[in-house]
Amino acid sequence: MPFPPVDHPVPGTDAILRVEGTADGRDIGVRGDLDTADAATVEAVAAAAIGHGALGDDPPVRLLAHHPADRLLPLPEAVAERLGFHPRRDLFQMRRPLPVAADDPGRDGAPPLPLRPFDPARDAEAWVRTNNRAFATHPSQGQQTLATLEATLAEPWVDLDGFLVTDDPDRPGELAGSCWTRVHPATDDDPVLGEIFVIGVDPSQHGRRLGQTLVLAGLDHLAWSGVSTGMLYVEADNEPALHLYRRLGFAVHLHYRISTR
Ligand SMILES: CC(C)(COP(=O)(O)OP(=O)(O)OC[C@H]1O[C@@H](n2cnc3c(N)ncnc32)[C@H](O)[C@@H]1OP(=O)(O)O)[C@@H](O)C(=O)NCCC(=O)NCCS
Repeated sequence: MPFPPVDHPVPGTDAILRVEGTADGRDIGVRGDLDTADAATVEAVAAAAIGHGALGDDPPVRLLAHHPADRLLPLPEAVAERLGFHPRRDLFQMRRPLPVAADDPGRDGAPPLPLRPFDPARDAEAWVRTNNRAFATHPSQGQQTLATLEATLAEPWVDLDGFLVTDDPDRPGELAGSCWTRVHPATDDDPVLGEIFVIGVDPSQHGRRLGQTLVLAGLDHLAWSGVSTGMLYVEADNEPALHLYRRLGFAVHLHYRISTR
């Protein structure tokens, strides 16, 4: 379960190692300047930080590199290596201002689609099927079940008006795609963020620009809700999604290099 950040000061420096609880485990990053610290001290503090809250690697620990708008920096590579960490994934957080203007070139070629809010009683099973087909190779999103979907739907932020689906005209009862949005309240570091939380198109429909229409619909919903910054996360090697998001005016805001052991 997420827990509040815990700081581990590094003696002789103004730097701290911060451990943050996330839905996936624990994230560790550096805040401040480590230059004046010797490697052995950093390693000792990092080892203590990694052990914080639990023994061993349960819950898992990830080292994050946030670029370019750094809040937390990565551990020095040599220290991370000695502690057994290896880079596993690169993840981008992308943002764009909202609303998307009516004449924005990102709207060019987007097909009109009948969209409706997700209906749990009618759509849950079809959504899980389509989602798992769309995300078959994704490291975390491709193994949804009715139980995981129901658990997410029970979260307090869920607003079904911001969870849009489109039916598959060729396969009655199935969804061709969906776009689920989520609003994050403002924090000390960020304004209110409107996230494209999960966007998926059934593989049988890829390349027909359903994704473009669905993301635009999600962004329009967020803008109508008063949100002025759109945000999403994407794996750095997800070329089709990156192409789509760049075309829609998103730019990389944060780069997370995730190392695990
Ligand atoms: C990402 C996704 C939603 C895109 O949906 P889509 O309906 O196929 O995409 P669109 O047809 O609207 O647009 C895709 C664009 O990417 C391009 N594209 C498609 N495959 C590509 C590839 N392998 N490499 C680069 N570009 C590619 C298309 O040519 C199109 O470009 P264009 O608008 O300049 O013609 C869809 O691929 C998907 O569901 N993927 C699996 C789930 C996923 O990764 N979701 C995003 C997680 S962040």
